[in-house]
Amino acid sequence: MHCKQLILSQEIYQTAIPIYLLRQSDLVGWLETQDSLTRQWVKSIHYQAKEGEVALIADAEGKLKYVLLGYGKHTDFWNIGRLPKKLPPGNYRIEGKTLHSLRDIALVWALGCYQFGRYKKSKMIKSRLVMPDDFKLAHLQEEIEATYLVRDLINTPAEDMGSVQLAESVCQVAEQHQAKVKQIIGEELCSENYPAIYHVGRAGGDAPRLIDLKWGQSTHPKLVLIGKGVCFDSGGLQLKSPAGLLGMKKDMGGAAHALALAKLIMAYRLPVQLRVLIPAVENAISEKAYKPGDILATRKNINVEIVNTDAEGRLILADALAEACSWKPTMIIDFATLTGAARIALGPDLPALFSNRDQLATEIMKCGIQEHDPLWHMPLYKPYRKFLRSNIADIVNASSNRGGSITAALFLQSFVNDSIDWVHIDLMGFYIRNLPGRSKGGAAMGLRAMYHYLKNRYAPS
Ligand code: BES
Ligand code: MN
Ligand code: MN
Repeated sequence: MHCKQLILSQEIYQTAIPIYLLRQSDLVGWLETQDSLTRQWVKSIHYQAKEGEVALIADAEGKLKYVLLGYGKHTDFWNIGRLPKKLPPGNYRIEGKTLHSLRDIALVWALGCYQFGRYKKSKMIKSRLVMPDDFKLAHLQEEIEATYLVRDLINTPAEDMGSVQLAESVCQVAEQHQAKVKQIIGEELCSENYPAIYHVGRAGGDAPRLIDLKWGQSTHPKLVLIGKGVCFDSGGLQLKSPAGLLGMKKDMGGAAHALALAKLIMAYRLPVQLRVLIPAVENAISEKAYKPGDILATRKNINVEIVNTDAEGRLILADALAEACSWKPTMIIDFATLTGAARIALGPDLPALFSNRDQLATEIMKCGIQEHDPLWHMPLYKPYRKFLRSNIADIVNASSNRGGSITAALFLQSFVNDSIDWVHIDLMGFYIRNLPGRSKGGAAMGLRAMYHYLKNRYAPS
């Protein structure tokens, strides 16, 4: 269990090495409270408490006495995430001005411990954060584990995370919480009327499938989570470039988010009747691959003209959304690594948030800022809907105009019943560089924000 990085005993707390969190403006005042040896040392190394600047301070016997972590002019939440992999082995505690709540500090520390160790031996992290005795890790543990789960699932290459293994991961989470999982696999998708999932996934090495998890009491309000589970996106016959292909193991990132959010909901037993729908496919090339110009039927009887086989995610989501709506939930949330355009609009770290209720989007954005897990509200701008007109079918699956994340969202909206609260999150699912607490690789984005939104909505305290 990853949370062992945090120790709880008061006894150890007293002997742990203090870490001081210092803004540049705090440094002079802090130095005044220190002995001359420390003052002289900090001066001789020209320590300035710049953002992320760490200083190790020895005592008179040459033993590590303090750690200083600089915040510069800011109080960035993620700063502490630098420490676990950087500090020498030992037990540490936060001393002096904490700048953040203990909960936030523990969370960031644990997230900073993440490593993906499946194919390369992880480094032993031997620095531990000791929390005071009355600190309760309980409500953090699941959030940390859910984040790790998303990251692990995305980091696992397509060879080991096809639709079969993705389904196994869903079943593992379901077992922990006595949830039920049903799967509709391969040809069965046709007889069960999921034509879009079938046709998009038909060329894949693993058969396409719809994974359907159910949990909770029938007396509670219904909530559906949907995740795009494209286990590898080659682009199909309209093949991606080599650079474009390289990242596409992550295209099941939406599914990873939906599953991890479900895990949180079940672990904290939110009073909802939960359903998770994950269409899992590979967008592959073979003689069976769906083709540009094809017209695909969908579960909602909307015929889609395929103008781009690389716009596959919205097709499989269309069938899942139609099924979700006919179950008549109070709310549907879908997560998807849907468009490169979302990243062009908002950059790599900020997921795009769409909703058919502006108020809902505003509240979720607020949770995102509070939880340091931001999302940004984007418009379902109706005039762009005409970019999706087809001459020979009801709709085309892609637009060549700019604003691609908006047209993708408008496409999805065609499959959503407007009487249901609907949220669509278009996310990168990947950190393209190392950031404090967020090492390069698969990323959870908007997960904690959405969980806190749901907690406030369904279980207000
Ligand atoms: N999975 C991709 C979107 C994507 C690409 C997410 C890169 C993150 C990084 C999706 O299936 C896709 O290929 N979208 C196309 C849509 C286009 C063909 C209309 C895109 O964004 O280029
Ligand atoms: Mn694609
Ligand atoms: Mn895709």
